[in-house]
Amino acid sequence: VVAGRLAATPADWVDAACGQWQTLLIDHAYCEKKAASTALALVFAYPEQQEQNLALARLAREELRHYEQVTRMMQRLAVPFQRLRPGRYAGALRAALRTHEPLRRLDLMLCGAIIEARSCERFRLLAPRLAAPLGEFYAELERAEARHEGLYWGLALEAAGEGGSSACERRLDELLVIESALATAPDPLFRFHSGSPAGPAGSPVRGSDSNS
Ligand SMILES: [Fe+2]
Ligand SMILES: [Fe+2]
Repeated sequence: VVAGRLAATPADWVDAACGQWQTLLIDHAYCEKKAASTALALVFAYPEQQEQNLALARLAREELRHYEQVTRMMQRLAVPFQRLRPGRYAGALRAALRTHEPLRRLDLMLCGAIIEARSCERFRLLAPRLAAPLGEFYAELERAEARHEGLYWGLALEAAGEGGSSACERRLDELLVIESALATAPDPLFRFHSGSPAGPAGSPVRGSDSNS
């Protein structure tokens, strides 16, 4: 549902990612860790939702396993760990979520579905462009992210309740307007979920990281 409505990732982001695959990998490790912690935070936020929490606990374990795999991949490819400040994507998206229940729960699940769908799209674009073993690894992760998108979308429909599917789709479209801008508009900081690579003056910043 979500994947078909995403704005396409700009081709220059894919080029930049292939050129800066080490930075991509370091940020990717952070994303997997964050995905696990977000799933776990949802278990804490809605303790009464047992079925939802069984699915989220399982997801948290899978994301944590991805984190382990990415970290091993960094070691295998001799990519040194480096602290990176986060990009604008996740924070800006979360800032758009409603703060009152039951709407917050719906928005959180939609946000999960959107991030998983975007990750899935980017792994699909990257997999054929990256050399082994990274290309194959990303092809595997693309399939996992497609599953996760479906999981969060199902949880969003449940959160919307009986007859809430059209409200769910309307809200999805609203959040996607924000997400598309984040994923495509010029972004000075290259990250896994960043927009079109551009410096403040619109100049490409490929091959460098403006991080301190
Ligand atoms: Fe993952
Ligand atoms: Fe995921």
